[in-house]
Amino acid sequence: GSLPNDLLLRDFTSSHRRGYVRVFPESEDDIPKNRKGYVLPKHYCDFERRIREFEVRDDDIVVASYPKTGTTWTQEMVWCIGNNLDFEKAMATVLPVRFPFLELTTLFEFRSAENEAEEDSLKAFLKDSVKFTAEMESPRYIKTHLPWELLPDQMKSKQTKIIYVARNPKDTCVSYYHHSRLIEGYRGNLEDFVELFLQDTVSYSSYWEHLLSYWEHREDPNVLFIKYEDMKKDLPPVVKKVVQFMGKKELNEEELSKLCSHLSFESMKNNLSVNYEYVIDQDKAASLPEESRHFMRKGKVNGWKEEISEGLARRFDEWTESHLSGTDFRF
Ligand code: A3P
Repeated sequence: GSLPNDLLLRDFTSSHRRGYVRVFPESEDDIPKNRKGYVLPKHYCDFERRIREFEVRDDDIVVASYPKTGTTWTQEMVWCIGNNLDFEKAMATVLPVRFPFLELTTLFEFRSAENEAEEDSLKAFLKDSVKFTAEMESPRYIKTHLPWELLPDQMKSKQTKIIYVARNPKDTCVSYYHHSRLIEGYRGNLEDFVELFLQDTVSYSSYWEHLLSYWEHREDPNVLFIKYEDMKKDLPPVVKKVVQFMGKKELNEEELSKLCSHLSFESMKNNLSVNYEYVIDQDKAASLPEESRHFMRKGKVNGWKEEISEGLARRFDEWTESHLSGTDFRF
């Protein structure tokens, strides 16, 4: 069904224009009592079957996440490891081409199949540069924000390697707020956005159902669950874990240090192939404060402390507690 607070969402959805739906993975009679489901753009319903039936290859590699949790960072790490640290190629080709976004490419394929001439800036950008995933050479690198339940069926049956990255909800929410202002044209303030976030009404929410849907599979041999906070604290051990998980040869000290410096925040902020500067409308950016004009914004753990009041932080904690009781997940 449609969402209750359409009014608040109106600005936020302007870039999609079609509004949002809440998707429940269960059939109607089996929806658990407190289930929030997943908020997706309405047009998801049009191509949901295409995603479910997406043809998966045995050697596909997937990075999955809730938005703003370090997806881009993880993608760049995974791609470089998979491509034997070919930094030159990494710098020469923008990330969405090397590592397409499943929902977006499916949407564009769906639209072109329907012969629908719809213009938006990203589509114009992608049209000439993305070889859609079906035409890509193996191994393919695929990004998705879909929760576990909504992944293509074959990703589960074929044991595709899936790397999920999680980040604490307060930093995720603040990052999402800035992203929404910069890229989606959101005009509300942070407090309003936090409200939407805590009500699980921003795109791809419920945050906790999303995270826990992968956490439940963390022991599966084809799943690796990593945390943004661990990457920030000490990147090399995470890199080593990913190398091993991907079945690649162990990196020597020099390789490891080169990779970690390629993946540093400063280096990625200045790297045009990963910093998304090309999707930013510079006029829109100019109307925002300097610190929110970039996709690579702050890259900090607990940066939320500078923006979220103690009262709101307590609400986050209560919300977190109510979702985590009965689970063994902790940040
Ligand atoms: P902030 O907005 O808090 O700075 P995603 O790729 O999932 O959209 O996540 C974006 C967030 O990851 C942004 O957070 C961005 O700055 C941060 N990020 C991207 N690359 C990073 C890096 N190399 N090191 C630390 N943080 C990084």
